[in-house]
Amino acid sequence: MRGSVWGMAVALGLAVFAGPVLADGGDIARGRYLLNGIVACGNCHATRGPQGEVIPGQELAGGFAIELPEFRAVAPNITPDRETGIGAWTDTQIVAAIREGKRPDGSIIGPPMPIEFYRDMSDSDVRAIVAALRSAPPVRHAVEKSKFNIPLPPAYGPPVTHVPDVPRQNQVGYGRYLATVGHCLECHTPRVKGRLDEAHLGAGGRELPAPAGGVLLSPNLTRANPDGMARWTDAQVKATLRTGVRPDGRQLVRLMAFDWYKTMRDDDMNALVAYLRTLKPVKN
Ligand code: HEC
Ligand code: HEC
Repeated sequence: MRGSVWGMAVALGLAVFAGPVLADGGDIARGRYLLNGIVACGNCHATRGPQGEVIPGQELAGGFAIELPEFRAVAPNITPDRETGIGAWTDTQIVAAIREGKRPDGSIIGPPMPIEFYRDMSDSDVRAIVAALRSAPPVRHAVEKSKFNIPLPPAYGPPVTHVPDVPRQNQVGYGRYLATVGHCLECHTPRVKGRLDEAHLGAGGRELPAPAGGVLLSPNLTRANPDGMARWTDAQVKATLRTGVRPDGRQLVRLMAFDWYKTMRDDDMNALVAYLRTLKPVKN
């Protein structure tokens, strides 16, 4: 099974895109699972309609604008279209864009693309995502440029060379890995002077642009929040993540990527929740 998917990745890469392919390919099925689930690149990179709904067929075609005082960031088209997307980039260049925030021309990708988290994406997962991106239909859609009122860093850190897979047998460790590639704590952690406040990991209170305008505060996921997931059973947390409806019936705003999380496997959900339960209780 795995072998044939791998074979297909290579065949597709060569036959359809005729572009450079990583020597050892990437597992398309795994890549699609991540892309359509926990990693949810499309939560930012989809084209959206007036109600914030994803336009069918444009799941990766870009154009969604995220506005904060620091920037008006517009997520680019990441379909394999050669002119308006990333079809002309090599696999190595796409990997560098995801894990290091670097474009082929050397320029830096700005926030809110969560590069600090993607730096920890394993070599096999980042290759799988590239294979899945390449297998998506190219969509011609030119997107306006972002505008930043803050200086961008010269780099997000030293080059990322080798990131091993996290073993699934380590449930909490694997859950932490899923939360990282899903950048849960990017949204659910406050910032001090623009940097993630590590002492308040998961404590919420991050100001985020609400899709309908205005500012939304992310909730505290730690046990210090008496009105949040600390009181919910694992089944209730999993149902909330998949449906976007809290146990008390309140519908969560579509900034949370539950439309993607609903495709996650149960064992992955269990690992994610097991990790979230280990967050240090911090008030905010
Ligand atoms: C939180 C929102 C967000 C998420 C999630 C996100 N991105 Fe981005 N991404 C952006 C924004 C915004 C930009 C443009 C930033 C700029 O203009 O400097 C960008 C830029 C890029 C670029 C550069 C494209 C170009 O033409 O310049 C690539 C490639 C990319 N993202 C791929 C991905 C992939 C693959 C994922 C999932 C693994 C992902 N992004 C997840 C917001 C996001
Ligand atoms: C783009 C930012 C963003 C990302 C990424 C994100 N969240 Fe959220 N999350 C929010 C916001 C904002 C809310 C509150 C929405 C509302 O109140 O309507 C929320 C709500 C929640 C809730 C409900 C908590 C409560 O007390 O009501 C849970 C649980 C949750 N998120 C867990 C996660 C997990 C786990 C991940 C990663 C798989 C994640 N979130 C990724 C922004 C985000």
